[in-house]
Amino acid sequence: MTTYAVTAASGQLGRLVVEELLQRGVAPGDLVAVVRTPAKVADLAERGVQVRHGDYSQPDTLGPALAGVDRLLLISGDTPGQRLAQHTAVVEAAKAAGVQRIAYTGLLRADTSGSPLAPDHVATEAVLAASGIPVTLLRNGWYLENRTASLGQYLAAGEVVGAAHDGRISAAARADYAAAAAVALLADDSEDHVHELGGASFTLAELAATITEVTGTPVTYRDLSTEEFAQHLRGAGLDEGTAAFVAALDASTAAGDLETSSDDLARLVGRAPTTLAEAVRAAAAASAS
Ligand SMILES: NC(=O)c1ccc[n+]([C@@H]2O[C@H](COP(=O)([O-])OP(=O)(O)OC[C@H]3O[C@@H](n4cnc5c(N)ncnc54)[C@H](OP(=O)(O)O)[C@@H]3O)[C@@H](O)[C@H]2O)c1
Repeated sequence: MTTYAVTAASGQLGRLVVEELLQRGVAPGDLVAVVRTPAKVADLAERGVQVRHGDYSQPDTLGPALAGVDRLLLISGDTPGQRLAQHTAVVEAAKAAGVQRIAYTGLLRADTSGSPLAPDHVATEAVLAASGIPVTLLRNGWYLENRTASLGQYLAAGEVVGAAHDGRISAAARADYAAAAAVALLADDSEDHVHELGGASFTLAELAATITEVTGTPVTYRDLSTEEFAQHLRGAGLDEGTAAFVAALDASTAAGDLETSSDDLARLVGRAPTTLAEAVRAAAAASAS
């Protein structure tokens, strides 16, 4: 019997991975949902999943959370600046608990990426490598949902504003990355793996064109310089730090950091990842219902 654990199982990605593992035949009792807030996953406990309290920022909680776990999916934390210490605490607890494989949701092409998000992921990858535990790096590309979540705003404004120039974004749906994570966790081998995960790529101009085509509402792309975009974001109410961070993400996109030609995602999940048009269609239908 193999015991699997998923951290951040209360999050959007974590929940999808839990469902994937259950659908792929893992018994609920062999699955541990490690969460900061157990009340959020009471439904999983009712279905027989082992729900355990594990807070990345409270290392004492992580040992008990990972006791008896064979394979662990570490979903990256969401607090830049704290992530390396948090991830290190999880890896140390996994080592102490005798975990035999860790899969980690990192960043596309983390080792060469100029993204402001990259340093935490690169450092976490180094901690994982030093642990001696077999590792599967799931270097996730952008979520399509990062864009479709703003569909209403794009439609209302009639434009997408950014500074990504012609940078291409190899995005896929959270559900695609979740399926890949489940497949990687279920694989019976002791090798290390690096998966560069992304779907069909698009520019922000193509995003606007797709929204126009799918919804019938004209939406254009307004391309700015990084500084102009930061100023635009400040004007929209973002604080200085957040505006600079978001603008830097677009600069990184312009430099090609979000693009990959890898077919690792399609290969792992055994199907084409969700396309931009499919995601926009689904988001438009959801907002209409
Ligand atoms: N590839 C992309 O485009 C992209 C976009 C956004 C984020 N991400 C990364 O992917 C991760 C998963 O994405 P998501 O969509 O599932 O994010 P999400 O829905 O916001 O979920 C974040 C999860 O992290 C948990 N968490 C935060 N701090 C924690 C801590 N100290 N200890 C334990 N758990 C903690 C949250 O727990 P609570 O429920 O208790 O808050 C929640 O379960 C994010 O955390 C982030 O690192 C990637």
